[in-house]
Amino acid sequence: MQFTGFRDDERNGWNARADVYDVATAQATLQSIPMLLHMARLYHGARVLDMGCGPGYLAATAAALGAEVTGIDFAEAMVAQARARFPGLDVRQGDAEALDMGDASVDIVASNIVLFHLADPARAIAEAARVLRPGGRFAFSQWVGPESSDLYREVAAVLAEHADVSRLSPAPDAYALSTPAAARAAMKEAGFEQIETKAVRNVLRAPVGDFFAFFMKFGVRVPRIVEAQEPAVQDRIRDAINARVEPWRSASGFEIPMPSLIIAGAKP
Ligand SMILES: C[S@@+](CC[C@H](N)C(=O)[O-])C[C@H]1O[C@@H](n2cnc3c(N)ncnc32)[C@H](O)[C@@H]1O
Repeated sequence: MQFTGFRDDERNGWNARADVYDVATAQATLQSIPMLLHMARLYHGARVLDMGCGPGYLAATAAALGAEVTGIDFAEAMVAQARARFPGLDVRQGDAEALDMGDASVDIVASNIVLFHLADPARAIAEAARVLRPGGRFAFSQWVGPESSDLYREVAAVLAEHADVSRLSPAPDAYALSTPAAARAAMKEAGFEQIETKAVRNVLRAPVGDFFAFFMKFGVRVPRIVEAQEPAVQDRIRDAINARVEPWRSASGFEIPMPSLIIAGAKP
């Protein structure tokens, strides 16, 4: 299946969120970067591709540590954000599923919370393998699914009760690579070896106020489901999500665990 509607919604969704990424999505994604770069075995002088770089934080971190970095993202507003935020960083518009780079041209491919958003994540893993030199490493991160994530358990329960997903074009399984076994199998399929996985205890920090309004800026997958529902259903989803996150309210807002899984492997 091509998932073309899903792919268009993802691109439009990230373009629309580029300006608020810092105060929304970055509040959780950036916590995976230190472990991801550690498992990528980043070294001074390494040629690094940040695949799905968003506003460029992983790319800029790797560059600050002495790597020669290229960042690519398919959302032009994200590319503009990264260029504005980190002048001098090499950031280009590009597709993780069809990289515009030569075979064996980089030492490390790193991708932070991107395969979760792809129409064909296996294609991106194969592309990472293609552009890596022999011995090069690919490291990526994935949100853990509802069975082990407080945030996604609560959201999934609300959507299962209230949302009709037949109202929107089909999407690939968000959690297809969210367990160590599934991620290992996909990496193996693309030819990677020495595969390692590690959990990171990300915590989503949302400001005081309407959690649902914040969450609609945080991601793209859930909003596309919500926005496809009748207004009255959208109201019910908002009220149910806001009620379910109450246990994680603190004086400064909400702090909700949403762990990630980091997967890394080497090209033979
Ligand atoms: C959750 S954000 C992660 C951004 C960044 N890696 C970070 O660490 O915060 C997902 C990013 O993947 C990008 N993306 C989604 N599909 C893509 C594709 N097919 N090719 C390139 N980038 C893609 C989106 O535009 C968005 O910037």
